[in-house]
Amino acid sequence: MIHNAIPNVGAAEGDAVREAVDQGMLAIGPAIGVLETRLSERMGGVEAVAVQTGTAALHLALLAMGVSDQDLVIVPEATFVATVNAVRYCGASPLLADVDPQTGLIDLDGLQAFLQNECDTTSNTTTERNTGKTIKAIVPVHLYGHPVDMDALDNILKPYGIAIVEDAAEALGARHRDKPVGGLGHTAILSFNGNKIITGGAGGMVLTPDANIAKRVRYLASQARDDALYFAHNEIGFNYRMPNLNAALIVAQLDKLDSFVARKRDVAGRYAELFADIPDVAMMPEASWAESSCWMSILSLNPEIYTSGAEPIIRDLVAQQIGARPAWIPLGDLPPHKQARRMNGEGARRFLNTTICLPCSTGITNEEVEAVAAATRALLEVARS
Ligand SMILES: Cc1ncc(COP(=O)(O)O)c(C=O)c1O
Repeated sequence: MIHNAIPNVGAAEGDAVREAVDQGMLAIGPAIGVLETRLSERMGGVEAVAVQTGTAALHLALLAMGVSDQDLVIVPEATFVATVNAVRYCGASPLLADVDPQTGLIDLDGLQAFLQNECDTTSNTTTERNTGKTIKAIVPVHLYGHPVDMDALDNILKPYGIAIVEDAAEALGARHRDKPVGGLGHTAILSFNGNKIITGGAGGMVLTPDANIAKRVRYLASQARDDALYFAHNEIGFNYRMPNLNAALIVAQLDKLDSFVARKRDVAGRYAELFADIPDVAMMPEASWAESSCWMSILSLNPEIYTSGAEPIIRDLVAQQIGARPAWIPLGDLPPHKQARRMNGEGARRFLNTTICLPCSTGITNEEVEAVAAATRALLEVARS
């Protein structure tokens, strides 16, 4: 089996975990602070709060922004379901923004038109006319590691008083103009889930330039404990702190982050070379101002030529033990989120229909990349004929 994206761990990770075990520091311990400090430094000095998962990070970041059951939160249609679930955990309602069918990234023109035509703004508060609810926040997703154009998004949002929480779960190591994603001046979250570029088995992080947000996230992640000695709790909090064991593993992985991102980019580049002569397919383009983490290697098919779409090719690759994956199903097409207000889901449907996520673990060999490309090429030829 050539897996889609699996962890790449070695002796250093084993040593780090063993050290934590030897110290008897499984839950609380020094690796958590080390991880937070190192990520903060990497992101230009923002506050960093380690939590159990990226999903928990999203939940807490939104709560810390004041998102409540009276609010709407804008989420793009093409993302892992965790992004929208976190909105629902807050009791808030998602407002689903469509995506560019080529890149899967939030459709900024569509968003701007919606805010202009379907919403009212007074004293920096924006209300969506149909639901009568306030749009409190937006969660742009740096999908598959490619950054959203945050400068353009900032410009669009200027008049509307909508807070930003960047979902950078897939984009650790990506760059946006001259800055690292996660250090762009907004609250952002990371994931260290097993399929991410670096992993702790599980793990998440809230990054924020705002010390009050960081303090609130830390407080809520620790069951909202108000006293260091007594178990005094004046609010309902969550058990979302990252265990020291996971932090130790992630610190060891962090030493390899730059080489892992370089390998991810290499793999995507190699696929691009191997598919260069095949008509009507292309690897996901990179904006001139961006450096994607290439968390996923994405192949796009021209739907006018590959009229059956990506699905039969993905199924055949999987049958050949090649871990290809589809893009995300549009969130508004998933039963738990069918009631959500949608701007339009067509871009996300087209993206799903034309996209293949190819195997791209950082440990994949060049021979495996070539084998995946050869199998894909054969299936594309059949699909075209
Ligand atoms: C875009 C996106 N958001 C959020 C998450 C949730 O992170 P976690 O699995 O660490 O909870 C993930 C991945 O798992 C993701 O890909």
